[in-house]
Amino acid sequence: MPSLLSLAALGLAFVSPAAAVILQNGQVRETNFPNTRIDPSAYTFKTYPADAPEISYKGRWDSKHVSWWSAPGIKFGYTGQTVAITFGNLTSDGVLVGYRIGGLDWMFTNITAGATHLLVSPDTPGANLTGPIYPWTFELRVTNWAYGVQIRSVHVAAGERLVKIPDYPRRIEVIGDSLAAGMYTSYEGLSSWAYGLGAGLGDTEYSITAYPGICVADQDCWGNPRGQVHQWFYTSDTSYRASVIHGDNPEPWDFSKHPPADIVVINIGTNDNNEHNNVSTEAYIDAYTKLIQGVHGKWPKAQVIVMSLWLGFYQSGNTYLPGAPGGWVKEIYDMVQWFNSDAYLRNPTVYDGVTKKTARTGRRAKPFVHYFNTTGILQHNDIAPQWHPTDVGAIKVASHLQQYIRLKLGWDLAATGPEVYHETLYWNDESGY
Ligand SMILES: *[C@@H]1O[C@H](CO)[C@@H](O)[C@H](O)[C@H]1NC(C)=O
Ligand SMILES: *[C@@H]1O[C@H](CO)[C@@H](O)[C@H](O)[C@H]1NC(C)=O
Ligand SMILES: *[C@@H]1O[C@H](CO)[C@@H](O)[C@H](O)[C@H]1NC(C)=O
Ligand SMILES: *[C@@H]1O[C@H](CO)[C@@H](O)[C@H](O)[C@H]1NC(C)=O
Ligand SMILES: *[C@@H]1O[C@H](CO)[C@@H](O)[C@H](O)[C@H]1NC(C)=O
Repeated sequence: MPSLLSLAALGLAFVSPAAAVILQNGQVRETNFPNTRIDPSAYTFKTYPADAPEISYKGRWDSKHVSWWSAPGIKFGYTGQTVAITFGNLTSDGVLVGYRIGGLDWMFTNITAGATHLLVSPDTPGANLTGPIYPWTFELRVTNWAYGVQIRSVHVAAGERLVKIPDYPRRIEVIGDSLAAGMYTSYEGLSSWAYGLGAGLGDTEYSITAYPGICVADQDCWGNPRGQVHQWFYTSDTSYRASVIHGDNPEPWDFSKHPPADIVVINIGTNDNNEHNNVSTEAYIDAYTKLIQGVHGKWPKAQVIVMSLWLGFYQSGNTYLPGAPGGWVKEIYDMVQWFNSDAYLRNPTVYDGVTKKTARTGRRAKPFVHYFNTTGILQHNDIAPQWHPTDVGAIKVASHLQQYIRLKLGWDLAATGPEVYHETLYWNDESGY
């Protein structure tokens, strides 16, 4: 069996310019992304700065309004039929973004650094539909984890205004690597199971702190200089872009300025488990334990769901079998059991990214770590040749997680119809063959 992710993670080292074509099973995918760039001097706008309180930032953004990690976005309400955005020059030139009006399907366009893009105009499908979502909402998400946008300003037509849209009451955070970031799915972050989980639950804010190739252990893995046990506490990810924009001084994520997540789903270890990165079992479990204690320290009420790891499948004679045991299966399960032990709950520990200390609760803590068994969800054809879920595989993982969260933690499935996974409408329109 080839070692998992060796191919995939290497892809990271060759992050291509944003203008690569989308390949689908080796064929060029036909895309018709409209060119939305305009010359703003030809328009009369009412303009809001990037820090306008009406603009909600989703996921992690830094103090310069630069986006990080997977599927970060912005959302706001607006009046009129015009929305334009001026992007800062720290935008990855040509980056593909998805955007939508209300609950209509995602549209896609490539963004030019430093340019203004007209994303909603009276000609945009649905721009003139008057309900039921009112005020009209606009949402934008970056598709690729390694690229980002910088928001400089948002414009509406003269005489119109932006409207603050309250956040949904529930919050989910997914921490992971390429498997959560959406590597090798059609629209990357916007086709990932992590996004599908957050968007598919409905009425839920979601943030995906996942980056391809990253380990949980704090060491270089496939060129990512730090592991999640360190990086999760920071605003920016481990990309080359981050090293250019933030150098050696990444901004710590200000947990006090953002509401806590209610549920944190973690899928990490496939890169630690790859012999290329030489992470010992002890170092892996130590870092993973600290990461969970870090989540518990920052968000004491969050429920943590630990996913078992999966590897790919291989053909064995006349069938397919799972690849070598999915990576530290027993150790991950034992770690979850340890978090649920009486000994631990009587004396829980929290971690702030630097030091561990006993959480002085004065009473036995409530169990907060859950085990999500991924065995049996994916089959060989749900994993693409580069060892990552296909779009269908991502949808399966997201759907099972949603149902697990409903049954185990009592969340209802609140999505009401708007598209989650773009271009997954496959159907048979002939019934007679
Ligand atoms: C837009 O981005 C997509 C995804 O990276 C790419 O396939 C396409 O070539 C880009 N188009 C332009 C005009 O840059
Ligand atoms: C980037 O934009 C900032 C502010 O808008 C401007 O001051 C700066 O000169 C620009 N830098 C480059 C390299 O264009
Ligand atoms: C909305 O715009 C479309 C296309 O421009 C037009 O066909 C339709 O009649 C308009 N609907 C309303 C309610 O104005
Ligand atoms: C792997 O780690 C072990 C223990 O830390 C060390 O002795 C060994 O030299 C490392 N191997 C490589 C190839 O880095
Ligand atoms: C995970 O699921 C598989 C398949 O049902 C089962 O064999 C295994 O025992 C489960 N693991 C745990 C820890 O429950």
